[in-house]
Amino acid sequence: MPNSARKPIVIVTRRLPDVIETRMRELFDARLNVDDKQLSRSDLVAAMKTAEVLVPTVTDRLDAGVIAEAGPQLRLLANFGNGVDNIDLDAARGKGLIVTNTPGVLTEDTADFTMSLILAVPRRLSEGAQFLRDPRNHWPGWSPTWMLGHRIWGKRLGIIGMGRIGQAVARRARAFGLQIHYHNRRRVAEAIEQELEATYWDSLDQMLARMDIISVNCPHTPATFHLLSARRLKLLKPTAYVVNTARGEVIDENELARLLEAGAIAGAGLDVFENEPAINPKLLASPRVVVTPHMGSATLEGRHDMGDKVIINIKTFLDGHTPPDRVHPAMF
Ligand code: 8YV
Repeated sequence: MPNSARKPIVIVTRRLPDVIETRMRELFDARLNVDDKQLSRSDLVAAMKTAEVLVPTVTDRLDAGVIAEAGPQLRLLANFGNGVDNIDLDAARGKGLIVTNTPGVLTEDTADFTMSLILAVPRRLSEGAQFLRDPRNHWPGWSPTWMLGHRIWGKRLGIIGMGRIGQAVARRARAFGLQIHYHNRRRVAEAIEQELEATYWDSLDQMLARMDIISVNCPHTPATFHLLSARRLKLLKPTAYVVNTARGEVIDENELARLLEAGAIAGAGLDVFENEPAINPKLLASPRVVVTPHMGSATLEGRHDMGDKVIINIKTFLDGHTPPDRVHPAMF
């Protein structure tokens, strides 16, 4: 085969939707993970030595040690996912590797999921559903004092991280009558604040102490690790709820579990965890907590769109252009 016809080796670490894998096979020498088994560290190192393009996901930890093992043939890390906290960006840059992600296409799905947790937790939706499903329980019928939750309309929602997803959550929340407050590294444009009728808090501490519901929507970076630290979690009102669909590492999970158990926080809706797939058992046991297995962006449509973005990033790069979703360490 003439060299120009040789397809570049693209290693994809997890199984992707069929339509995406089929297209990748057409375009690339795609090495797919048909069993969808998570790669071990040594599998990852082996992939770094073979691939010209690696397509990792949130479950692949590309730390400095793994990146140091990359062979000279590797040029692009085309992450299947928006968050790139699984990749040491400085190490990648040091090794001359380009990194891309899949922003934008999972905004609406993640915001929908966040909104459903914001609605479900104060209204005890999961508790009610679980009660009926458990054969040990007997439902004697309606009672005026049974399964009382709290009203959502009129409450204060504090959004931490007012990027694409945070703004999409705010748009939905406004339709449910919530008052929008936010904390962000930078204040957003005035037009957006006006559209969302959003109040900016420069001080996260002050915002936390006044909110009824907190929604975490910021990326996990060295600066946001345990942003909701033990000290900050103690600032929350005992009637407050915490929702997190971003990254578990942003919250001190053990302290959150302890405060929920002690009744110092009213409840939580958590889709992400500090040491996934491990979850603090106190959170699993608590009736005040709704836990879901990192499924905020898990729609078929979303996965197709993410796959398309990955392919476009790889193709553009291989054609000699800057890929549209190139990530620079300074962005995070
Ligand atoms: C993805 C996510 O499913 O894209 C992200 O940042 O958190 C998830 O919704 C996952 O990261 C895929 O790698």
